[in-house]
Amino acid sequence: MFPVERKNRRIMIISFLAASLVLYLCPLLLQQPFAAAQLRRGFYSGVCPEAQHVVRETVRRAMARDPRSAASVMRLQFHDCFVNGCDASLLLDDTPSMLGEKLSLSNINSLRSYEVIDEAKEAVERACPGIVSCADIIIMAARDAVVLSGGPKWEVKLGRKDSLSASQEASDEIMPSPRANASSLVHLFERFNLSITDLVALSGSHSIGMGRCFSIVFRLYNQSGTGRPDPHMDPRYRFKLDQLCPVNGDGNVTGGLDATPTKFDNQYFKDLVRRRGFLNSDQTLYSGDGRTREVVKRFSVNQDAFFTAFVEGMVKLGDLQVQQPGEIRKNCREVNKQSERMDRMRTRF
Ligand code: HEM
Repeated sequence: MFPVERKNRRIMIISFLAASLVLYLCPLLLQQPFAAAQLRRGFYSGVCPEAQHVVRETVRRAMARDPRSAASVMRLQFHDCFVNGCDASLLLDDTPSMLGEKLSLSNINSLRSYEVIDEAKEAVERACPGIVSCADIIIMAARDAVVLSGGPKWEVKLGRKDSLSASQEASDEIMPSPRANASSLVHLFERFNLSITDLVALSGSHSIGMGRCFSIVFRLYNQSGTGRPDPHMDPRYRFKLDQLCPVNGDGNVTGGLDATPTKFDNQYFKDLVRRRGFLNSDQTLYSGDGRTREVVKRFSVNQDAFFTAFVEGMVKLGDLQVQQPGEIRKNCREVNKQSERMDRMRTRF
């Protein structure tokens, strides 16, 4: 090859690489690719002022159809934010190349009301297309569910991006079991910088909603492999649960997580003090650890203290983020086609 030809070839290769790099970086820069965005109150007030109202009305309609949907929607925040941050990874359906979180151990046959988030997203997209993330819709809807159930009000921080993938493995590894004891829960929450007060206050979300017999039969009949029930249960309450959940009965039958399962109040803590907690992971906060017991006792006699701590906990939970590429999904159940392309390009480099 002549020197001139060699030089031309080198120039062509460099130009090709430079063009590829620009093509690769441009969409990323335009998309503000990293999910660990700066969150703030009023994030959409300039660009989509209707967003908060639209989400709240969607939750209100869902509750009118099915009062339990408030609890189910609120739970989504916990299950989304604990697994790689609040990025709506929870909402992604499985694909041939990715096992999503919907079928993880804690979520399968248990998480519900995904369609409420879909409905909110569709309504928000009609008002302002391509602006509001599914991750932020979860956070707004969870807050609205609490408010509309009689709980405290607060302003949410917004500005999250939606993830480009999900991880069933991470969900299986992180989400706590209903069998968990207090000290393991304290440790788990510490990993997320959440204190004992945060743990107890956030568990107070079980003030609304239902649990399945599947989640409690072991404590009714074979606590810790003893062949005996959990000793920390009021016998009359246990009798009631035995009727609801007989041995070899239907695991999908549900019972209230507290005595007032559609009202967000401090009844849950009163129940724990009376040893009427539904889940083992609830009762253990009173019966299993002196540090958590003190907080349960305080909240059982002071609803305002519970509400204040709950709001703090929800804000901290909503702050959980990891550095990863993100986007505003069009449909909460799947990544945008363009991102799939970007993802493919990224793996080629
Ligand atoms: C502390 C550790 C926690 C454990 C072990 C736990 C576990 C559970 C379990 C086993 C159920 C019932 C699921 C079923 O039987 O299908 C449930 C329901 C629920 N959880 Fe938790 N949870 C915890 C913390 C939280 C937190 C932090 C929140 C929200 C901030 C939350 C919100 C809810 C709600 C609202 C329900 C009722 C959902 C419905 O009725 O559809 N949980 N949880």
